[in-house]
Amino acid sequence: MDSQEAKRRIDELCAEINAHNHKYYVENAPDISDKEFDLLMKELERLEAEFPEFQDPLSPTQRVGSDLTKEFTHIVHERPMLSLSNSYSVSDVDDWFERVKKSLGNETFKVVGELKFDGTSIAITYRNGRLIRAVTRGDGTQGDDVTANVKTIRSIPLKLQPGDWPDEFEIRGEILMPWEVFEKLNAERAFNEEPLFANPRNAASGTLKMQDPKIVASRHLDARFYYLLADDLPCDNHFDNMEKARQWGFKVSKEMKLLHSLEEVDQFISYWDTERKRLPVATDGLVFKVNSLRQQLNLGFTAKSPRWAIAFKFNPERALTKLRFVSFETGRMGIVTPVANLEPVLLSGTIVKRASLHNDDIIKELDIHEGDMLYVEKGGEIIPKITGIELSQREEGSLPIKFVTNCPVCGTPLVRVVGEAAWSCPNHNGCRPQITGKIEHFAARRMMNIDGIGEETSEMLYDAGLVRNIADIYDLKEDDLLKLDRMGAKGARRILKGIEDSKNVPFERVVYALSIPNVGETTAKRLASSVQTMERMRAMSDAELTAIPDIGPVIAQCIYIYLHDEANIAIIERLAAAGVTMSLSEEKMQPKGNSLEGKTIVISGTFAHHSREEYKEMIEREGGKNSGSISKKTTFVLAGENMGPSKRIKCEELNIPLVSEDEFLQMVGK
Ligand code: IVH
Repeated sequence: MDSQEAKRRIDELCAEINAHNHKYYVENAPDISDKEFDLLMKELERLEAEFPEFQDPLSPTQRVGSDLTKEFTHIVHERPMLSLSNSYSVSDVDDWFERVKKSLGNETFKVVGELKFDGTSIAITYRNGRLIRAVTRGDGTQGDDVTANVKTIRSIPLKLQPGDWPDEFEIRGEILMPWEVFEKLNAERAFNEEPLFANPRNAASGTLKMQDPKIVASRHLDARFYYLLADDLPCDNHFDNMEKARQWGFKVSKEMKLLHSLEEVDQFISYWDTERKRLPVATDGLVFKVNSLRQQLNLGFTAKSPRWAIAFKFNPERALTKLRFVSFETGRMGIVTPVANLEPVLLSGTIVKRASLHNDDIIKELDIHEGDMLYVEKGGEIIPKITGIELSQREEGSLPIKFVTNCPVCGTPLVRVVGEAAWSCPNHNGCRPQITGKIEHFAARRMMNIDGIGEETSEMLYDAGLVRNIADIYDLKEDDLLKLDRMGAKGARRILKGIEDSKNVPFERVVYALSIPNVGETTAKRLASSVQTMERMRAMSDAELTAIPDIGPVIAQCIYIYLHDEANIAIIERLAAAGVTMSLSEEKMQPKGNSLEGKTIVISGTFAHHSREEYKEMIEREGGKNSGSISKKTTFVLAGENMGPSKRIKCEELNIPLVSEDEFLQMVGK
């Protein structure tokens, strides 16, 4: 294919894929199969790899999140991001309506009723139909530049559909994590004993602030847009402007409604008070806005919020129920969690029987007594929360709930986790739920991926005395497994094959599989890539571990203590003897250098000796930063063959040197 033809096909594929993305993510109405979609993406990826000069930084292939942004730049909002004044009752909204009416001199006016989405707000700027910047609310005056992360959200258009959009405009909306995604993420985090997100809002804002856009891309965030700002808006009213935004490709809530009277406003409130529970995303209220932009201008702003809008907040769902008893449960890491076991009660459409009390401090703060009547709330939170006690119904003489002093399973005296509110069972190698939890974690798909060893099998293996720690897994024989309940030859062979295959699982996953306290998947990756071998990690001091990027003193201490525990040392040595991978693969092992430290490098063109990916890795390994676009901050451009003419001109304009492939390889000592 010649380069002209490639350019034409790349443009055609971009347009086609963008249109399918819009159908899928914005309209929820895909018109091709996933497989057909993947084929288009693959073709585009292949062409872009072959003709990188034609790759648009806003190409749909860039949605996976490419550059690693180390920290966010603060950007001052061109127009400050104000908040809305809140109301908690229908009469507050009615008062607002009357105030507006009076201020407009009894002129007729329409109101737009909208859902108040419960996520994290974002302001996105588009120039010439292309996304150029996405900034968080921050303190309202300035926010964080999270463009790289926002670009991974597939329901946000990178390039607009043709239309009468202003040359430059800002659109504001809410970044959301849909309930379904949130529940899945929290289930995964619970399994890994990582702290849970309290609600989709926290999960969305936490995700948006992550340093690695690749993780952001994997979290499936969504968005809704509700405010358009520009000097030259296409229409004179909010509703029509939002309809325009919808046509340009933005996900504007279909629930937005034009209301003509106070009655219609009140009806809108009573309808959504119950209906909102059926929505796929969290909402915490409604927003009412005067529709006409002229009337908005007349009404103006107070110091904090517009007079032309008001938010109505829903009451969180709350129920009163009786505490049956508090159970104490020991987890994989030994942490003992108190759980309130309740008389079943219906809350936000689900029956609630249990609610975590989290830790001793919370029990004390609430001052819960046996048999108390407790208020349970669900609000935006999916996990029911005990928010209070109905003291008028407390039984006379009832005793306060006391935290157990010994492990409810093995009886070992509990110890307080340093600097935390949690109590923990220190019998890590002899307490059943800690061991079975660790076996299950070790064998899980994202760790050693041993098919057939889940929660139930882990418990059976422990109870039969066959596996007392993770190293015992590698001594299992077919005859041992056949002793287990409902285990046939086929099942046993499947497990043994899984165990054999697990020996090739890469080192970073082995590190994660060990259940080192506070070492989750991301930390395990950082740790493994930095220490490179188990031997080196074991020889490191506390201070050396702390010096690893992203590993603070608390995690470093956890790693150090874990690696100096005799039982753990024996387990690691047995795992190594069984053939489990104890070092990084050769390609990941290449020594790190600093020849490119502090340099920001743009890669452009095609190369003879290595792929672009390999050059990216080399830059990172040598301490440099790879960037996608040429700017004043670029130190040099690694220029291959066929570098695009526009990039060349930009380099000349900004006086940025071009470095050839051979010169670059010399620079990094190859
Ligand atoms: S309008 C100047 N509309 O609520 C007014 N905000 O307390 C601009 N929000 O920061 C905001 N849904 O994060 C507007 N339909 C909606 C909204 C909405 C959620 C959030 C937004 C804003 C906060 C205001």
